[in-house]
Amino acid sequence: MCGIIGSTGEAATLNDLVEGLARLEYRGYDSAGVAVARADGTLERIRAVDGTGSLRLLAELAKDRSDGYIAGLGHTRWATHGRVTTDNAHPHMDCSGEVGVVHNGIVENFRELKEELEQAGHVFSSQTDTEVIAHLLESYLKDGLSLKDAVMSSVARLRGAMSFVAINAKDPKVMVATKRMAPLIVGKGDKANFVASDIPAILGKADVFYQIGDDQVVTVSPEAIELFDLAGKPFELKEIVVEWDLEAAARGGFRDFMSKEIFEQPNAVRDSLVGRMNAKGEIALDEMRLDPEELRKINKIFIVGCGTSYHAGMVAKYAVEHWTRIPTELDISSEFRYRDPVLDQQTLVIGVSQSGETLDTMAAMNEAALLGAKTLVVSNVMGSSMARAADAALYTRAGPEIGVAATKTHTAQISALMLLALYLAQVRHSLYPSEISDIYSEMLRLPDKIDEVLVGDAAIEEVAQSMATVKKFYFIGRHVGYPVALEGALKLKEISYLPAEGYPAGELKHGPIAMIDSDAVVFGIVTRTRLWEKMISNIEEVRVRGAKIVLIANNGDVESISLGDAVFEVPQTHPLLAPILDVIPLQLFAYHLAVALGHDVDRPRNLAKTVTVE
Ligand code: M6R
Repeated sequence: MCGIIGSTGEAATLNDLVEGLARLEYRGYDSAGVAVARADGTLERIRAVDGTGSLRLLAELAKDRSDGYIAGLGHTRWATHGRVTTDNAHPHMDCSGEVGVVHNGIVENFRELKEELEQAGHVFSSQTDTEVIAHLLESYLKDGLSLKDAVMSSVARLRGAMSFVAINAKDPKVMVATKRMAPLIVGKGDKANFVASDIPAILGKADVFYQIGDDQVVTVSPEAIELFDLAGKPFELKEIVVEWDLEAAARGGFRDFMSKEIFEQPNAVRDSLVGRMNAKGEIALDEMRLDPEELRKINKIFIVGCGTSYHAGMVAKYAVEHWTRIPTELDISSEFRYRDPVLDQQTLVIGVSQSGETLDTMAAMNEAALLGAKTLVVSNVMGSSMARAADAALYTRAGPEIGVAATKTHTAQISALMLLALYLAQVRHSLYPSEISDIYSEMLRLPDKIDEVLVGDAAIEEVAQSMATVKKFYFIGRHVGYPVALEGALKLKEISYLPAEGYPAGELKHGPIAMIDSDAVVFGIVTRTRLWEKMISNIEEVRVRGAKIVLIANNGDVESISLGDAVFEVPQTHPLLAPILDVIPLQLFAYHLAVALGHDVDRPRNLAKTVTVE
């Protein structure tokens, strides 16, 4: 899951590549590099390996070196094959140093290709799978093929999910790019054209954005952008509607993207919810491509997702089953297709993916489609690979999320999934119209309630700072409080690097309670639901064993408040909507603890924003 970019044209500069890479950094930052084709027919490569400082170092090395720039490629790496070294940093080149390649994804059959190419005399200088692409291209170019035809012939030989961009110093204006189950888009600017892993990388430089389909090849020169299938048949370019601006992708005065994104939640939730009810008082999900008649036939639902998206899916399972009475299963995407799930034409598989590019979720959805199920994706990225492949797409409107730890997209996902659950209940008549409109009205009050939660930020910061030496955290909840507990633990783990476990509170006494002692901090979700009393008993159980207790409780709920060493208060809402409010203090706690520990919250170690490898 690396970030790739390429630019060509009169107005293109090396600086565009470096700036674009900075906006792609969430995809990985083990190393960074560029290859620049100059007017003198050379391809110059600059690479930097400095962990989270790689891009800063690259920017220094690349400073003032745009002279003679014709076109170039850039890459920010999340290492899969080959250690984090300069030799393994992209771009990679062929034997002659004339062909440059940047690549995202994995060439699964690289070993056999490498052997074949080495036998034919090619000399490799890295341990990466990527380098086989450069040498394959070289061999096809030697056979007299154009770069476009060489890419087409190479793609036919490569196995795995990937995207790559190639350039040939002999004809440097023309970049050739392709993708298969990995993100890649094209951008057209006034005097320069671009390819990139995602839109924010070239926002402000390109004005029009185009999709590339799987196993399509695009040629990008300053004059033209042309799309083909692997047989060379031309395809019409499909524009992507982009509503984001450059400012939305920048920090806007916040210390980092994560805090900005936490504070953007009122808008992210509002934008994902407004305008979803028509004049007749019905939920109207305009972008849905599934016919209500088809939805009435559904008799089983699976929800699949990874990480934070999986937790949003878990909240949705409770609502979908409760409001529609359709049996609903929840699966971690990477497990789903290997467990032989029972699906047919009356099954709906809902994929939850902020990026719409996570390989495990995409593969789970593809498997579901192959087995005849209907597929629907909930994604934050219009035109993402999953959104295009699925039968239907429902978009969250959270705006670009740059911080690796998902925050605003999580609450937007739960909001969108709740809308979907209500929509299913509406088409299947399992709730009265008045019940649906009451719940929707309460959903529209959530942005103001989130604002109220955010007011508690300074108090949460103080508690987090006081816990900077704590070494073990537990998060417990029941019913929809359970996914909140899991998400609280995940946020803490990924940016603080501390052991943190989320449990269904009722399960504690079946084992985990043995770990509780006075060194432990236990977070409990005790907002008022049907299970509040049981939750309170579970809190008592850990309290008497010496743990420090932090509670997420409703405003002014003195009974709950009296049990906590610290309490983060949130307004009351519909019990099934409560996770949207309850999770926010946990995001803030994780954020402030990580800052207190001196960690880079936007770029946590070992992680990448979008995981496009299995
Ligand atoms: O783009 P997706 O929603 O498919 O990503 C899924 C997970 O990789 C993602 O939620 C991950 O767990 C985040 N780092 C959580 O903060």
